[in-house]
Amino acid sequence: MQRLAPALREDNVSLDLISLIKTILAATKEISFRVSQAHLGGLLGSTLDENIQGEVQKKLDVVANELIKDILLESGFVKAISSEEEDDSVAGDENGKFLVSFDPLDGSSNIDINSLIGTIFSIHEAIPGMAADDPAQFKQAGHKQVCAGYVLYGPSTMLVMTTGKGTHFYVLDRTHGGFLLVERNVQVPQDTKEFAVNMSNQRFWQAPMQNYINDLLAGDTGPRGKNFNMRWIAAMVGDIHRVLQRGGIFTYPADSKNPEQPYKLRLMYEANPMSYLIEQAGGLAMTSKERIMDIEPDSIHQRVEVIMGSKNEVEACLAYYQ
Ligand code: AHG
Ligand code: MN
Ligand code: MN
Repeated sequence: MQRLAPALREDNVSLDLISLIKTILAATKEISFRVSQAHLGGLLGSTLDENIQGEVQKKLDVVANELIKDILLESGFVKAISSEEEDDSVAGDENGKFLVSFDPLDGSSNIDINSLIGTIFSIHEAIPGMAADDPAQFKQAGHKQVCAGYVLYGPSTMLVMTTGKGTHFYVLDRTHGGFLLVERNVQVPQDTKEFAVNMSNQRFWQAPMQNYINDLLAGDTGPRGKNFNMRWIAAMVGDIHRVLQRGGIFTYPADSKNPEQPYKLRLMYEANPMSYLIEQAGGLAMTSKERIMDIEPDSIHQRVEVIMGSKNEVEACLAYYQ
């Protein structure tokens, strides 16, 4: 099995970007270890603080954020970072070539139940002429990402990453401490009989999504003429990993639970990197109106509607909005 750096060189990834990716992965290896020892090390449970998202931070959210933030800011490779757990973007090295956005731990509600969690990251090129402390440099659409990926802390610690030459799977090999390429050019099947959505929000959705899901639930006697299965891991990393592996549609639609916040998932830390991985694997990643990666962000913590996965199923869903 191929090691990470030679696999990246085969895809013509620059040495600078390879160094940055290896830096991020060094932090995730440490997070993987801390996650496995969390119960023993007193790292389960919540802090007393709330993050900028209005969510109470788990102890491991804070630890993971500090690990990634510190290693990136010390590396010299990054001009600035933005994190789901930081109020504002944080300046790095003025000569850094890259901007990194990350969700240090995705699926925080799974931490205390020893279930799936992961780290999601997204890399853009820094914009020459903009100061490292200027938050406006993060206002770049998802289609300008040069790399996106996640590390899933599951039974295996896996890296799923794209640099624009397909989506590849790697597994952390604890015997030598590096990530090994296990599957190149993963393809999301175009059709599926599986959907992922938090059904408890059903009554708050807009009519098109209500109608779409109702037709899936109607099964082989309904308009879709086939039975669908449902899965919800409550960690986007886990749900998207399943979709990449065996197909499916994943959605966090608009809802009216809190009128001030119609969307849940964050554009920079969740929707954009996952969209890049899904599209590079032949899937579709949309809101009900547009391609996610074409959204011009107006703030780093912006939230967005998400409908992504198997191409034909995403198109079937979007037809309900027309
Ligand atoms: P985070 O733990 O980083 O806040 O993200 C959780 C997100 C996403 O991963 C998941 O799909 C969704 O929130 C779960 O939402 P519900 O709690 O509504 O199921
Ligand atoms: Mn998240
Ligand atoms: Mn998170």
